[in-house]
Amino acid sequence: MNWLARRTAARRRGVGKYDATEARAYGETQGLGWLTVDEESAYLTDLSRVVHLAPGANVLDIGAGTGVMCSMLRRLPGIELTALEPSAAMLAILQAKPELANVRAINGFCDEPQDHDRFEAAQFDAIVSRQVVNGLFDPLLAFRHWHRWLKPAGAVVVIDGLYGRDGWAGRWEEEVDVLPLAASQSLASTPYLLEACGFHIEVVERMTTVNALPTTRTSRYVVVARKTTR
Ligand SMILES: C[S@@+](CC[C@H](N)C(=O)[O-])C[C@H]1O[C@@H](n2cnc3c(N)ncnc32)[C@H](O)[C@@H]1O
Repeated sequence: MNWLARRTAARRRGVGKYDATEARAYGETQGLGWLTVDEESAYLTDLSRVVHLAPGANVLDIGAGTGVMCSMLRRLPGIELTALEPSAAMLAILQAKPELANVRAINGFCDEPQDHDRFEAAQFDAIVSRQVVNGLFDPLLAFRHWHRWLKPAGAVVVIDGLYGRDGWAGRWEEEVDVLPLAASQSLASTPYLLEACGFHIEVVERMTTVNALPTTRTSRYVVVARKTTR
């Protein structure tokens, strides 16, 4: 069996499933593609305990989808937002939101070799992602790119869930053995890999306010990692 060749052949297959129908369904599901004001506040409460995004901060939302993180971060004063999203259908929904008209939207991946130069080095004060890390095809390469794109002392803020194999059902089931972090049940996997890519880990914790929401079915956690200045 040539495991690498088989896995490489499946690159982009998962993202390709976010076609117009899937993107619309995602975008219309509360807790996934849109959040109530109370849900947004819960995320901001948990985030405010672990990271400070100062006015004027230049923030990249990776795998921005239908714009949930961008909408939430708009509530903080003076944040400059860039949304990177490989599914054109997801990005179209984000771009159709009037409140996100000022977001710089880019259609593309973060974890392919050619993405190294997608952004100039040291562009961003923070890189955020929600529910993306579990679906990355190449997390190590992604985290190396994120490290390059961040300014010294910039922060990575990863929000993800402790998903199991059962969460990958129907036509998504075949992706679970392609994506390395698809069913990680450990809080250690993401910080371990971020550290291997040169980050200093500041925070690894469950999102207590978000996890108390009725729409949160899978426990969410947050990791904050800093690009060291040395
Ligand atoms: C579950 S959705 C989350 C969307 C959004 N972040 C949110 O919080 O609702 C996962 C998103 O990650 C994107 N994605 C998957 N692989 C990616 C990659 N390699 N680089 C960038 N984005 C990716 C998908 O296209 C999809 O929009």
